[in-house]
Amino acid sequence: MFVNQNHLFVMSIQIKSLAEYQASYKKSVEDPEGFWAEIADHFTWIKKWDHVLHNDMVTPDIRWFEGAQLNITENCLDRHIADKGDQIALLWEPNEVTDQPRSFTYRQLLEEVCKCANALKALGVQKGDRVCFYMPMIPEVAIGILACARIGATHSVVFAGFSSNALADRIKDAQAKIVMCSDYNRRGPKTIPVKAVVDEALSLGCDSVSHVLVNQTTGGDIAWDADRDVWWHDLVDKQDTTCKPEAMDAEDPLFVLYTSGSTGKPKGVVHTTAGYMVYTCYTFLNVFQYQQGDVYWCTADVGWVTGHSYIIYGPLLAGATTLMFEGVPGYPDIGRFWQVIDKYKVNQFYTAPTALRALMAAGWDEPDKYDFGSIKVLGSVGEPINEEAWRWYDAKIGRGKAPIVDTWWQTENGGIMISSLPGITDTKPCFAAYPQPGVQPVILDQNGAVVHDNNVEGLLCIKYPWPGMIRTTYGDHERCRTTYFAPYKGYYFTGDAAKRDEDGRYRIIGRVDDVINVSGHRIGTAEVEDAINQHPEIVESAVIGFPHDIKGQGIYAFVKSTKEVTDPEGMKKEIFEMVTKHIGPIAKPDVIQFVAQLPKTRSGKIMRRILRKIAENQYDQIGDISTLINPESVEEIKLGAIHL
Ligand code: PRX
Repeated sequence: MFVNQNHLFVMSIQIKSLAEYQASYKKSVEDPEGFWAEIADHFTWIKKWDHVLHNDMVTPDIRWFEGAQLNITENCLDRHIADKGDQIALLWEPNEVTDQPRSFTYRQLLEEVCKCANALKALGVQKGDRVCFYMPMIPEVAIGILACARIGATHSVVFAGFSSNALADRIKDAQAKIVMCSDYNRRGPKTIPVKAVVDEALSLGCDSVSHVLVNQTTGGDIAWDADRDVWWHDLVDKQDTTCKPEAMDAEDPLFVLYTSGSTGKPKGVVHTTAGYMVYTCYTFLNVFQYQQGDVYWCTADVGWVTGHSYIIYGPLLAGATTLMFEGVPGYPDIGRFWQVIDKYKVNQFYTAPTALRALMAAGWDEPDKYDFGSIKVLGSVGEPINEEAWRWYDAKIGRGKAPIVDTWWQTENGGIMISSLPGITDTKPCFAAYPQPGVQPVILDQNGAVVHDNNVEGLLCIKYPWPGMIRTTYGDHERCRTTYFAPYKGYYFTGDAAKRDEDGRYRIIGRVDDVINVSGHRIGTAEVEDAINQHPEIVESAVIGFPHDIKGQGIYAFVKSTKEVTDPEGMKKEIFEMVTKHIGPIAKPDVIQFVAQLPKTRSGKIMRRILRKIAENQYDQIGDISTLINPESVEEIKLGAIHL
């Protein structure tokens, strides 16, 4: 059953030279099915596929490796036991420097996953059921996720910084049967009452939930519902250490992950089993050039797609040692990240520009105190990396010797789409650069026509399916079609604008829709407006992103009240509370401006373009306001504008 020794596996699918990249890319375009079949062949399948690809980018109806059966955890865990059962799979560094780190070999991780899988079965979870996670960055979140995959349950991880309302929305949408959480969450100096948030969410009508599986992380007091709540240590610890992997169809869902769009509530992006597996493993091995024995660290939270694909699935599929960190970059001091790299001799480090900018501002020379001799590759993800941060990362962390991979991709993509390959293709500040094999980016003009030249700018779309792509939005396939596949027929629309330089490198400019990227967190402006508008004294609001030195983008809210605002500070506090309650603290506006009226067209639409220019402090680019029903509003708003 164990088809390949791991080093053979890695050797056979990892690109090692520019010529190999070029050949792989060419083959992936000329014969995509043959290309992916060759890669997929190296994984462990219960049954091989009948067809490599069913390609319908219109409906959309995308199916990869149809007819195949597999279990992704067999590929993440069992497959490695033969030749690396005693190698560390997961390293865990706690929030507190004084606490004990933990580690799991591949054998131990498999046993823990099987125990948790058996526990889920004991709670009545069956193949196809949804299990929601609201957990801190502790090993049990990885164990729980893999346990779901082991028995064919669909995991839905919710970032533990979201509010109880946001959690309840996601539980209800996914109709989750179980919620997994911890008692508390340690994040830097704060202790966050996780279980209390879950209790509150469940009081908001989450009828589908039968049990809450609670991991004791801090041992603090919590409320307990004896019919519903179960301690991890009471149930999981006593389970058997073996659990037969469920045979999953290639296109059975693996997980749902909620993400924000330009309209309405967040949507559940659905990823399926086989394609996601092949894609995350392939991109992990290539983009990080992981070698046997390396220690790889991705600082993302497991509540986002980066945590799914590049803390858990990609590295474990590749037989890597993956490090998980419970804490935050600046705790107990600004050297914490650097100390962790030094302590574990991290070889590949993958983080977000916002963390780099914050650390750079707080301690330009702080990294000089540490030994980074181990660093081979530096990664960046989640938002455009500005040139200053890129150069600092290169000089201070890479010491000029480690290539930076600026990886562009999205929750919907499953894995990295555009990135340099370290030591193989070149790197250029601010450029994600080259598409991965199998990824066919195109730039479209405003009319949807493909722009073939180089040195152009336009809308970024993807022309051909890749195995890790979104299949549907949970419970609402039409939303998937209208959001991603209807705007430009036959293409997947990313929502980003990009530039292609004279050598074919891509530079991501940013979103062209009403989505903003705050500290690498994707936030829909409509969601923030909805939260603000819940305030009884607010008539309407318009939320816009503006350039922010640390966060990348900040949130600017133009707010119209029912009456004159006599206590603006008090009102702002109430707005913060509204946003925190409905979404979470990450969506709190940086600037709130009270306005008498918002600029509107004759049809009553808010002219966001004008507000964007005001928020960005680019008054000279406001342009024509003659089509407004209330052109005088622009002058009023300019007078009251706040620029940080
Ligand atoms: O605008 C792009 C930006 O983040 C968006 C996707 O956000 P999310 O689904 O939360 O996934 C983030 C991590 C995979 C994209 O539409 N983005 C992501 N990576 C980059 C980026 N913008 C510029 N450069 C990047 N490397």
